[in-house]
Amino acid sequence: MPSPVGYPFGSAFTDHMVMANWREGSGWGAPKLLPHAAIPVSPAMVGLHYGQVIFEGLKAFRRADGRLAVFRPEDHARRFRVSARRMMMPEIPETVFLDALDELVRQDRDFVPAESSASLYLRPLMFASEPDLAVRPAREYQFLLIAFVTDGLFGSEPRPLKVWVNEDHPRAAVGGTGNVKCAGNYAGALRAQSLARENGCDQVVWLDPAELRWVEELGATNLFFVRKTGQSHELVTPPLSGSLLPGVTRDSLTVLARDMGMNVLEDRVSVDEWQDDCRSGRIAEVFASGTAAGVRAVGQVRSAGASWQIGDGSVGPVTAALSEALQGIQYGRRPDSHRWLHLVD
Ligand SMILES: Cc1ncc(COP(=O)(O)O)c(C=O)c1O
Repeated sequence: MPSPVGYPFGSAFTDHMVMANWREGSGWGAPKLLPHAAIPVSPAMVGLHYGQVIFEGLKAFRRADGRLAVFRPEDHARRFRVSARRMMMPEIPETVFLDALDELVRQDRDFVPAESSASLYLRPLMFASEPDLAVRPAREYQFLLIAFVTDGLFGSEPRPLKVWVNEDHPRAAVGGTGNVKCAGNYAGALRAQSLARENGCDQVVWLDPAELRWVEELGATNLFFVRKTGQSHELVTPPLSGSLLPGVTRDSLTVLARDMGMNVLEDRVSVDEWQDDCRSGRIAEVFASGTAAGVRAVGQVRSAGASWQIGDGSVGPVTAALSEALQGIQYGRRPDSHRWLHLVD
């Protein structure tokens, strides 16, 4: 989606990348900082054929003092290791992952503009590079770290999303790979995403793979429901069932909401409940959360048989307050009381 100020998601790449190779018997070689350029691959490379490919997505923000800060890099390093284990790939040591981030951010820092909505999106990637088509875990892997400047997945304008409840093509399987960041999850999701667009929606709502009844996540984001309880609000997010991704932003928002005095709980919400509770006013707001998207209000929901609005369809006060709390920390306008930022000098 083109962005109003000119950084569409995923194309304004910086000039450099970091590369490291792993080989059975010798382990990880020293990472190298290189120009961002095409890489030679064998047509028999395992990653291309059998999908041993994992990635991460995290961001560095420019603060008012000009310094860049990476948001929760240790948590992304940890999730990268969890993804590697699930896909039978070698784990990259945390120090190698963090040093690669530091090196690339330091080198390409001048790409990040001072506009408050822009940030540097960092994309660590690992794939099986061995040219051998036996079906087994590969014996050679390549780690790459590239970066691009972005305004966010949906641009910098906070228009509430219209979402499509997808009852046809679950994103994940019971016991599958829905809780890790492997490339195949995203290829398998494209068909449902295209159906969402055909139905006039921005994003697809993923339901649980067993019953197609419980709401799990949204596109490449987690979901939150703001429920009215008397005079106050509580924040509800689907539990980590094994088929949805444990988002770093999801975790951060639960902490920030508790800091704001809200009750936060993990609870299953069915599609029927979502509709009924919006109609009765019990659900006042819904928003999506993710590194790429930030905090994004959901205004309208559509499914094959129904369509409903959330609140008055605009950005609600809880969504706005949590978005500001998170961005305030990321851009250095608020104290980093949970020590989530890693400053790059
Ligand atoms: C499927 C999916 N769910 C949720 C998220 C949000 O995770 P995070 O907040 O760590 O970016 C992402 C993004 O990585 C995702 O791809």
